[in-house]
Amino acid sequence: MTITFLIRPQAPGDLAAVDQLHEQAFGPGRFARSAYRVREASAGPQIALTAWDGATLAGAIQLTAVTIGDSAGAMLLGPLAVAPAYKGMGGGQRLIHDSLAAARRAGRRLIVLVGDLPYYKRAGFAPVPQGQILFPGPADPSRILAVELEAGALGDFHGLIAADNRPWPTVATTPAPQRPAREQPMFVVA
Ligand SMILES: CC(C)(COP(=O)(O)OP(=O)(O)OC[C@H]1O[C@@H](n2cnc3c(N)ncnc32)[C@H](O)[C@@H]1OP(=O)(O)O)[C@@H](O)C(=O)NCCC(=O)NCCS
Repeated sequence: MTITFLIRPQAPGDLAAVDQLHEQAFGPGRFARSAYRVREASAGPQIALTAWDGATLAGAIQLTAVTIGDSAGAMLLGPLAVAPAYKGMGGGQRLIHDSLAAARRAGRRLIVLVGDLPYYKRAGFAPVPQGQILFPGPADPSRILAVELEAGALGDFHGLIAADNRPWPTVATTPAPQRPAREQPMFVVA
């Protein structure tokens, strides 16, 4: 069997399917997560990509603009979820890769998340020195990870993370907006 995944920016009509995917992946406990609290205070994810197998949602990723201490220019990655039937096919890493590329195009300098280092280190994430970035709620310090989109950027971010609802200085809020038909094959699994 061959599965061809397509990646495209999340559309308003995808919301129910994305919610269902999050419920499946994280359950009701997702609303208590520290990262969720930050996202909840946001006007919405500024980068949201979805991966599709035909009409079936296979995965989704969101990135939200945040300030860290007094510094702007960072994004919080999450949630990332891949539907059980599509796990282990590279979709999660591909969604991370494409969303980081979109953040870089938008002039973002740092991506932060709370997650498993063994998984995210594949995409270049590394632990943030303990105490450098704080969440408004419990977050295991060893799970606070970051990747620099600009060399040395991490050094500019210290303090509490919070939603950044100011307008973006650049307009590239979705990948390759000049090519709306970005429904190219993401990858093919034979
Ligand atoms: C974590 C998740 C996004 C991975 O998606 P995926 O599309 O299956 O991942 P990929 O295909 O890109 O990568 C699969 C590889 O990552 C590994 N992996 C998956 N989750 C991992 C984790 N938590 N820690 C370490 N490795 C992990 C797999 O074992 C596999 O390894 P292999 O390549 O050596 O076989 C998916 O399992 C998921 O949605 N989980 C539930 C929600 C969640 O935990 N999201 C992340 C936190 S926001």
